[in-house]
Formats: sequence, C-alpha cells, structure tokens
Amino acid sequence: MIPLYTISTCVLFMKLAFCAIPLSFTPPQNASQPILKSFVSFSIEFSSFPDFAGNSSSPNTFSYNLLTNLQQLQGSYPIIRVGGNTQDYATFNATQTQAVIGTFNFSRSADYPTTITIGPSYFDSYSTWPNVTFLHGFNLANNGTLGYDTLVGTVPLVCKALDTSKLAYFQLGNEPDLYKTSSQGPVRPSWWNETDYVDEWLNKTRLIRQIVQQDCPDVISQGKFEFYAPSFGGTGNSLNLLTTWNAGLDTDNDIACIDSHNYIGGATQPGVTLQGTLMNHTSTVLSVSHHLNESRLLSGTGIPYILGETNSLYNEGAPGLSNSFGAALWGVDFNLYCAATGIRRTHMHQGTNYRYASWQPTQTVNETLGTKAPYYGNIMVAAFLGDLTTSNVSIADIELGSIYQNAYAAYVDGRLERIAVVQMNEYNTTHGTTGTRPGETFSFQVPAAAGATLRGVSVQRLIANGSDAITGITFDGISYNYELEQGKPVVLSNVTRGEVLQVAQNGAVSVDVPWSSAAILNLQW
Ligand SMILES: *[C@@H]1O[C@H](CO)[C@@H](O)[C@H](O)[C@H]1NC(C)=O
Ligand SMILES: *[C@@H]1O[C@H](CO)[C@@H](O)[C@H](O)[C@H]1NC(C)=O
Ligand SMILES: *[C@@H]1O[C@H](CO)[C@@H](O)[C@H](O)[C@H]1NC(C)=O
Ligand SMILES: *[C@@H]1O[C@H](CO)[C@@H](O)[C@H](O)[C@H]1NC(C)=O
Ligand SMILES: *[C@@H]1O[C@H](CO)[C@@H](O)[C@H](O)[C@H]1NC(C)=O
Ligand SMILES: *[C@@H]1O[C@H](CO)[C@@H](O)[C@H](O)[C@H]1NC(C)=O
Ligand SMILES: *[C@@H]1O[C@H](CO)[C@@H](O)[C@H](O)[C@H]1NC(C)=O
Ligand SMILES: *[C@@H]1O[C@H](CO)[C@@H](O)[C@H](O)[C@H]1NC(C)=O
Ligand SMILES: *[C@@H]1O[C@H](CO)[C@@H](O)[C@H](O)[C@H]1NC(C)=O
Ligand SMILES: *[C@@H]1O[C@H](CO)[C@@H](O)[C@H](O)[C@H]1NC(C)=O
Ligand SMILES: *[C@@H]1O[C@H](CO)[C@@H](O)[C@H](O)[C@H]1NC(C)=O
Ligand SMILES: *[C@@H]1O[C@H](CO)[C@@H](O)[C@H](O)[C@H]1NC(C)=O
Repeated sequence: MIPLYTISTCVLFMKLAFCAIPLSFTPPQNASQPILKSFVSFSIEFSSFPDFAGNSSSPNTFSYNLLTNLQQLQGSYPIIRVGGNTQDYATFNATQTQAVIGTFNFSRSADYPTTITIGPSYFDSYSTWPNVTFLHGFNLANNGTLGYDTLVGTVPLVCKALDTSKLAYFQLGNEPDLYKTSSQGPVRPSWWNETDYVDEWLNKTRLIRQIVQQDCPDVISQGKFEFYAPSFGGTGNSLNLLTTWNAGLDTDNDIACIDSHNYIGGATQPGVTLQGTLMNHTSTVLSVSHHLNESRLLSGTGIPYILGETNSLYNEGAPGLSNSFGAALWGVDFNLYCAATGIRRTHMHQGTNYRYASWQPTQTVNETLGTKAPYYGNIMVAAFLGDLTTSNVSIADIELGSIYQNAYAAYVDGRLERIAVVQMNEYNTTHGTTGTRPGETFSFQVPAAAGATLRGVSVQRLIANGSDAITGITFDGISYNYELEQGKPVVLSNVTRGEVLQVAQNGAVSVDVPWSSAAILNLQW
C-alpha cells in the first residue's frame, strides 16, 4: 500500500517514490474557466510587421510555418496583434511607396526606429498568412494634425485589408498609462488623467467607427467592431485601469477584451538573472498577481482579461537570458500559470532583432534568421492546452511550494488528461562535461474513477543541453529549426521520444525530470 501525503509533505519528500501528489479526476474548484481559443497568441512590433509577414510578392513562409505548428496543436492560429511602442510613432504618407521608412535615434532606442512613416503598401503584409486573424494597433499618441490624418487615412486601408475574415479586433494606442512618463519622451501633459484619456479614446474610436461604417459596413453589421483596451503598460503606472473603466471606457460596449501588458523585469534592471528572475516560479506568481487583483475587480464586466503584450524582460530582452532555453522554461511556467489563474489569453511580444523573440524572421547584421529558444516554450504551452476549438480545456495550478518547479493539470471536457511539470533549477551546458545532470522525481496519484481505467501514460519532453543553451532545443524529439525544414516539424533521430511510464496498481505514476527541463504526461484512459 502506498501512503498518500499532503502536497507540502510531498514537496519535502519529493525524491521518495512513495510520496505522490494527489490529483482529482474532475477539475478542482480553483481550476480555470474553459481556455479561450488562440490562448497562445503573439504581438508583433508595428515597425517589424513587414519583416515577419513579408508581402504578397514575397510572403514570409518561415513565419507562417511556425504559426501553423501552433495552429496544429491548439486548433486555431495565434491571433497576431500588430502594435507596440512603434504603433504610436507611425504616421501615414499616402504617396510613400515603401511599406515602412524608419529612422533610429539611439538615445531614444537602439532597437526600433522612433520616427516612422508607413505607406499604403504596409497593409499588403496582412495578405500573406491564410486564416490568420489580426489586431491592428492605431496611433493614439500623436494628437496633432498628422495623427488625425493618419487615423483617417489608414482606417479604410486596415478595414479593407483585414475585412471580416482576417480582423480579430482593433486597438487604439499602446500603453497610454505611460504617455506622461515615457522614457522616450512624454506625449501628454502631467495633468492628463483617466477622464481625459477616456474622452479622447471615445472620440477617436467613434471616428474610426464612422469610417468603418462607410468603407467596411460588414465589419459593423457582423459585430466585429471591437477593441482590445486600454492596453496599459502594466499595473501601477500613471493611469489606473479601474478608474479608467469607471470613467466610461466601455460606454459604447465595444471592448472585447480588457487588455494589460506585463514583463517580469527589465533587460538592464540591476540584479536581474536567469535563475532569480525568470526561472523562479515565485517571481512569476508575484508578477501575475497584480493583474489578478485587477481582473478580480473587473470580473463583474464578464469581459475577458488578457495580456495583449507580454514577455520576459522589457526593453526587448537581455542577451543570454531572454534568448536562452531558460527563458523558454519561464515561458511555459508563466503562460500555464496565467492560464490556470484566469488570464484568458497571452500575446507574446516580439520584433526584428529582439532578444526575447520566438523567431527572427529575416537575416540582419544583428541577428541570424531562425527559430529561437522561446518558440519551443510556445510549442509546449500549445501542446499542453491541446485543441481549444473542439473541447473545453480547463487548467489547474498545482503549487509545489518551490521557486524551482511547478506543475499544472489539464482537464479536457471535465476529465484529467495531461499533467505538466516545469523544473527550473539552473543547469549550465558547461556542466555536461563534468558529471551527470541532476533531476527531480515527481510522483502523482491519479485517481480511480468510475468507468475509467488508466491504460497508460506517455511523456513528451522539452529539453536542451542546459538552461543557457540557445540552440539544440527540442520538444518531444522534434526540432522546428529554420535550417531543417524552414520551421516545419522534423523528428530528430538522436533525441529520445515515445517514452511511457509505469502506472502502479493504485494509479501512482512517477516521472524523472532533469534540471532545466519540462515534461508533459499524457494520460490514456
Ligand atoms: C511622402 O512620400 C513622398 C514619396 O516618397 C515624399 O516625396 C514626401 O516627402 C513624403 N512626405 C512626407 C511628409 O514625408
Ligand atoms: C515586398 O518584399 C520584398 C522582399 O522583402 C521587397 O523587396 C519589396 O520591396 C516589398 N514590396 C513592397 C511594396 O514593399
Ligand atoms: C534623439 O532623441 C533625443 C532624446 O529624446 C533628442 O534630444 C534628440 O533631439 C533626438 N535626435 C534627433 C536627431 O531627432
Ligand atoms: C483556411 O480555413 C478554411 C476553413 O477552415 C480551410 O478550408 C482552408 O483549407 C484553410 N486554408 C489554409 C491555407 O489553411
Ligand atoms: C493633445 O492633447 C493634450 C492633452 O489633452 C492637449 O493639451 C493638446 O492641446 C492636444 N494637442 C492637439 C494638437 O490637439
Ligand atoms: C481629471 O481632471 C479633471 C479636471 O481637473 C477632473 O474634473 C476629473 O475629475 C479628473 N478625473 C479623474 C478620474 O480624476
Ligand atoms: C471629437 O472631438 C472633436 C474636437 O473636440 C470634435 O470636433 C469631434 O466632433 C469629435 N468627434 C466625435 C466622433 O465625437
Ligand atoms: C525568486 O523570486 C522572489 C520574488 O521576486 C524573490 O524574493 C527570490 O529572492 C527569488 N529567488 C532567487 C533564488 O533569486
Ligand atoms: C545592429 O548592428 C549595427 C551595425 O553593426 C549596429 O550599429 C547596431 O548598434 C546594432 N544594433 C543593436 C541593437 O545591437
Ligand atoms: C489550487 O488548488 C490546488 C490544490 O487543489 C493548490 O495546490 C493550488 O495552489 C491552488 N492554486 C491557486 C492559484 O489558488
Ligand atoms: C550558469 O552560468 C551563468 C553565466 O556564466 C552563471 O551566472 C550562473 O551562476 C551559472 N549557474 C550555475 C547554476 O552554475
Ligand atoms: C541531433 O541531430 C540534429 C539534426 O541533425 C543535429 O543538429 C544535432 O547536433 C544532433 N545532436 C546531437 C546531440 O548529436
């Protein structure tokens, strides 16, 4: 007889095979609502969008392959938000032939241009990825004549390019809660408050609506005139989300998702490390908790609360941290924790040459074209959630009481089907030459349920040679690297897959998880 222990006792004795974490057959009380489709979504920097998508004469099929892999796993394509800081810098020039003309000012940012004009051909990039839907981010920061002309000039082009089939939502303004304090130059006076923002937002969204009504009436009649808002940079900035909501942001009932942004820390923030900041479950819990406080206060609206832009470290990520396999493990823990706690969708942000990008869409002097480590985290999240279009999937957080590891359970149509374990003890590739890689054993007590017998458990692993690795990453023995099949899945013959676990007679299963790796246990009933 294998005794059962409470979870906290289990954590102490995790290495002992007799200690098992009890799981329920049906979702526990604190499991999530059904996960929204396209939970795994992206945000692409406005100025980088043509790099990621290409254009109709030269579509970026590598990007499309990577998006299709995620569609195969979660049942629908990631929703692509086109926006970020540069959406609020971009103005429209109707006679410009190039899609984007950007000028860098390194004292404002070394990563993206801060003076940007777009021409009509910019919108051609919306035609390259069949069945992908988009969220276009309009400029709100520029409230002069140029800003007004940009809105009036681009709304018809956006609504015609996206039409009803490719339009997910609209957005007006990126992180307006930072307009007064932006380190790249404030764009509103210090007295500008929530009421002023709401007045401006309502005024301009009504203008957008008038133009859409005229040029793309189907968008209105099909109920697709909807926004992500207010797209604040985070919690605790110079505008408060609750105050903004109470000031009447949704007066016109056109907000589909309450949108906030999140980063765990800053790329050059003192003290930021892979182990301490990213591969640290407590750090993730703390970071997400600010949003959960907000979303609880707004739960009466019935409108989903999402992260419309998020990633590891703001300012485009830190080299060696945000582009490492450790950041992919962080991405798994962060996204599954969000899913379990009621954040309804996450858009992982990226741009050309960004350190935290899931992939680099084109070859540049600064970065090699290719699939990057964080993408493998996106894949594991999508694999764990499974097809969200045909089943109700609900995720439960299984707190293991440790900064180094956590687990999650996926309930499909009310039944336990998958368990995810993320192990985040930092293990450097250089250790590989000096001994065996440590690991942890996790035991789960899978319940017996009337009429259901556990027939077997198979394992899929997310692994690399260490948390500092930036290449050689696989999920379930599959590589999605550019240099193999341009991002299409390729099963590697030199990585183990097809592993199965022994199920004890009482339903206990144990899995060994090497440090700095993650695993999904698939339960076959
Ligand atoms: C708009 O683009 C045209 C064609 O490139 C250029 O001649 C003109 O100077 C641009 N206008 C502005 C205001 O930048
Ligand atoms: C389309 O993309 C190709 C390849 O990047 C580029 O050479 C061309 O200028 C683009 N066309 C437009 C109209 O931007
Ligand atoms: C670059 O940005 C700095 C800081 O905002 C500003 O003082 C400077 O005038 C800008 N340079 C140019 C050429 O626009
Ligand atoms: C787009 O979706 C439709 C409907 O699901 C499907 O029939 C079609 O094959 C898809 N096209 C591509 C290129 O995936
Ligand atoms: C831009 O907005 C600020 C704050 O509301 C306002 O003071 C300023 O007059 C506006 N500028 C223009 C050109 O409307
Ligand atoms: C914003 O400022 C105006 C003018 O001072 C004031 O009437 C209004 O109540 C303020 N709004 C909020 C939400 O504080
Ligand atoms: C927006 O505000 C301007 C200036 O106050 C006003 O002229 C215009 O009618 C408003 N537009 C809408 C759609 O409310
Ligand atoms: C993990 O994160 C928490 C919360 O930010 C912090 O207090 C703790 O020191 C971190 N742990 C390590 C090992 O850095
Ligand atoms: C990209 O490369 C160029 C040319 O080598 C260099 O001037 C620039 O600083 C690099 N940018 C970044 C963000 O490293
Ligand atoms: C949900 O409940 C489980 C136990 O059933 C517990 O381990 C976990 O911490 C709870 N999660 C949250 C986010 O409250
Ligand atoms: C891994 O390598 C990094 C960079 O050299 C170092 O800061 C860190 O302490 C190492 N971690 C371990 C667990 O050895
Ligand atoms: C496994 O195969 C891939 C693809 O052929 C190769 O790039 C990689 O170096 C191999 N890994 C090992 C450990 O041999």
